[in-house]
Amino acid sequence: MGQEVVAIVMAAGKGTRMKSKKSKLVHKIYGKEIIRRSVENAKKSGVSEVIAVVGYQKEQIEEVLGDSVKYAIQEQQLGTGHAVMQTAKLLEGKTGKVLILNGDHPIMRPETLKNLVEESNKRGESATILTMVHDGVIPYGKIIHDNEGRIKEIVEHKDCNEEQLQIKEVNLGMYCFDIQELLVALKNLTNDNVQNEYYLTDVIKIMYDKGLKTGSIVVSDNAEVLGVNDRMDLQVLTKALQLRINTEHMKNGVTIEDINNTYIYDDVEIGIDTIIHPNTTIKSGVVIGEDCEIGPNAYIREGCRLADKVKIGSFVEIKKAIIGEGAKVPHLSYMGDCEIGAKTNIGCGTITCNYDGFSKSKTIIGEHSFIGSNTNLVAPVTLGKNTFVAAGSTITDDVPDDSLAIARQRQTNKEGWNKK
Ligand code: UD1
Ligand code: CA
Repeated sequence: MGQEVVAIVMAAGKGTRMKSKKSKLVHKIYGKEIIRRSVENAKKSGVSEVIAVVGYQKEQIEEVLGDSVKYAIQEQQLGTGHAVMQTAKLLEGKTGKVLILNGDHPIMRPETLKNLVEESNKRGESATILTMVHDGVIPYGKIIHDNEGRIKEIVEHKDCNEEQLQIKEVNLGMYCFDIQELLVALKNLTNDNVQNEYYLTDVIKIMYDKGLKTGSIVVSDNAEVLGVNDRMDLQVLTKALQLRINTEHMKNGVTIEDINNTYIYDDVEIGIDTIIHPNTTIKSGVVIGEDCEIGPNAYIREGCRLADKVKIGSFVEIKKAIIGEGAKVPHLSYMGDCEIGAKTNIGCGTITCNYDGFSKSKTIIGEHSFIGSNTNLVAPVTLGKNTFVAAGSTITDDVPDDSLAIARQRQTNKEGWNKK
């Protein structure tokens, strides 16, 4: 990329359409906050640093982002142009390009942002704007081109006349600017519009009128660039991300029976020829081997690592479970904070009692073991290799290799009792 590029992520706005007590930007998509996703995408695009503009409910944003970014404070929410003005001190003296991003478009592909900067440099434009062509009604700024294809201005949806409302190319709130030209243009912004806000989008008209080069890049995949303004958008984006992630796994050799009812979070590894049945949720960071079978109705939580040929059946929840090759947890179990050896079978209804109300403890089960149905494993507890636990046992003590453990009340039959 040559010169280092700074990114600004705008995160000070109110987001009233969400109807929430929380900042819009800390709502989650697949377990990860909108603002965290936006910043991560910027970072992955190769920028050298990220400046977050915060203001409204800024404590919530700062709690999510911590010291992963620099902060600029926007005390009053006077618009996106005003938000960027707050970064002027941090930009002064810098040359080259700045990437400016709305904080509420969380599933952008980093490559799309990288391409925006590279293309802007190649074309020698002072402002390059990422846009999409959209047929329906969407309340985004409309892009107005001149006869040479340069962008004359962006007109906000609320400021559009009838004719402008027909324009199909819209602004996504992702821009690449020449830093010095941006700083000059920001000084000339006014809030003369229906919302009485300082619009960042007006920078384009200022630059164009000055004779600077402006242009747009139209995205090829509209699904990745949508923003979140309300809870319906949140759903639309969740579904778009789900489709992207599931498709990727299928391309890599995983069978997903129902792409719409399988929820695989970011950064999950799944080996080839593994089959995922419907209504399965797999959380971030989980690693699953080849030839496994998961679900239906399985919940694979954080920290799980499954070797090859593992079977996790229906109504099974596992958390921080390290499971050896060919082991099975076929039905109705909770296995948390545990290691299960290769070829071990966990009977229906078995649970690990891993939490005593204060802390979590581990259960270790050796290979080639057989845990009878409806067993309680009270952690911390270790079962050796080749052990056998009788159904219905409550195991509180360690079990040596090759042993049978029975831990339940003996049955007594009282003959004739029920006749009396
Ligand atoms: C903005 C664009 C619009 C574009 C749309 C795409 C402007 C004027 N309009 O409109 O052309 O089609 O995004 O989603 O930029 N923010 C601040 N401080 C503020 C106001 C907003 O930091 O004072 C932040 C918000 O937190 C958000 C982003 O800027 O992350 C966009 O703000 P929002 O109010 O959602 O802008 P839109 O009206 O959607
Ligand atoms: Ca928005």
